[in-house]
Amino acid sequence: MTAVDLFRPSDPAFVAHPYDAYAALREGPRVQYDEKTDKWLVARHADVDALLRDRRLGRSFLHVATHAEMGRPEEPPEHAPFWRVVRSGMLDVEPPDHTRLRRLVSRAFTPRTVERMRDTVQGVTDRLVDDAAAQGEFDLIATVAEPLPVTVIAEMLGVPEADRHLLRPWSADICGMYELDPSEQTARTAVRACEEFGDYLVALGRERRARPQDDLITGLVQVVDEGDVLTEDELVGTCVLLLNAGHEATVNVTGNGWWSLFRNPDQLARLRADPALLATAVEELMRWDTPLQMFERWVLEDLEVGGVHVPRGAELGLLFGSANRDPEVFADPDTLDVGRDPNPHVSFGAGVHFCLGAALARLELQTSFGTVLRRLPGLELVEEPTWGPGYVIRGLQELRVRG
Ligand code: HEM
Repeated sequence: MTAVDLFRPSDPAFVAHPYDAYAALREGPRVQYDEKTDKWLVARHADVDALLRDRRLGRSFLHVATHAEMGRPEEPPEHAPFWRVVRSGMLDVEPPDHTRLRRLVSRAFTPRTVERMRDTVQGVTDRLVDDAAAQGEFDLIATVAEPLPVTVIAEMLGVPEADRHLLRPWSADICGMYELDPSEQTARTAVRACEEFGDYLVALGRERRARPQDDLITGLVQVVDEGDVLTEDELVGTCVLLLNAGHEATVNVTGNGWWSLFRNPDQLARLRADPALLATAVEELMRWDTPLQMFERWVLEDLEVGGVHVPRGAELGLLFGSANRDPEVFADPDTLDVGRDPNPHVSFGAGVHFCLGAALARLELQTSFGTVLRRLPGLELVEEPTWGPGYVIRGLQELRVRG
């Protein structure tokens, strides 16, 4: 059996523990073709980091080639509503359009703007943790991990409280398409979610145009009005991206992170004893059990990685979870060390698509871990959790704890 055979993203046992397979992949050639997923796998930190910054690759290829030119099948016309939304957000756009979209939105995510969210984030966290604590035994995912980032990003955008329950199901339905080889049913569900979510956001945008408020949707709508810089499709694509990217990974860092701490009681005790370690601990939890295990890139020009020729039209699978355990970069990579510093993990990506929300994610995670540690000093695990089916966006189904 070769190392590539060990890469089985649809096998629950692999999803639960992909790290031995990654270690075997890192021992092999620097890029290895995997026939079952039709991807060229890249497992080492230096390569993942360099390829994320390499402009001969793209998250999309449509700015330089058609499907036929890349040797890829056209998408079925019934999937068009999904692609229309996804390709209007900056994540699936390449420069120069990417540069314009990112500049318009990035003002809302500077460290200074994010710092102004600190009281809101703490207030929301306190309410959620109080409610959870009152239950005695609870699912940490449903009570804290999920509602915190959804509430924060909904608040920033200006989605009214009464509508917020719609966001998480829409997001989950859309994100199903980011997994490998989604089924036709997954595609249909994602298309319907994009249509509903899109209609909702267009209506909300019109409402804000009529009655501006101090929120991000108003800001984005005003950009549309001031000379057609952001189209209505781009407004929808941007809001969907912010809502989805703005919470999916954060939920999983919280859930996976607590599960990591329960599996490493010495590190949990160390963190409880020394809250000054919170910032390094959050980075280490993101490294040790990476919430987004793999991101893909299209090869726009023939290239060579470590002597292996990769043709134009190929798709690379950059294995973030593996890069984050690479012994070339991290001493004792399989050891969780909440004080690890420096910690050059790639969990937020690199290059032009580097996570726009990294400062916000760090604020949310430090606040939520800090508050739970303080408020519930005896928090313990009730039962071993099970992993959800996702590999790309990888997280627990639930995490039952007692406070
Ligand atoms: C711990 C939580 C988070 C993680 C691990 C994470 C990770 C990532 C990664 C890896 C990328 C780049 C994907 C690629 O290069 O293919 C990305 C992009 C992005 N993230 Fe995050 N993210 C997190 C939280 C957030 C939050 C809270 C927001 C805020 C709203 C956000 C907004 C975005 C946006 C807008 C992009 C696209 C940037 C671009 O294409 O230029 N993320 N994120």
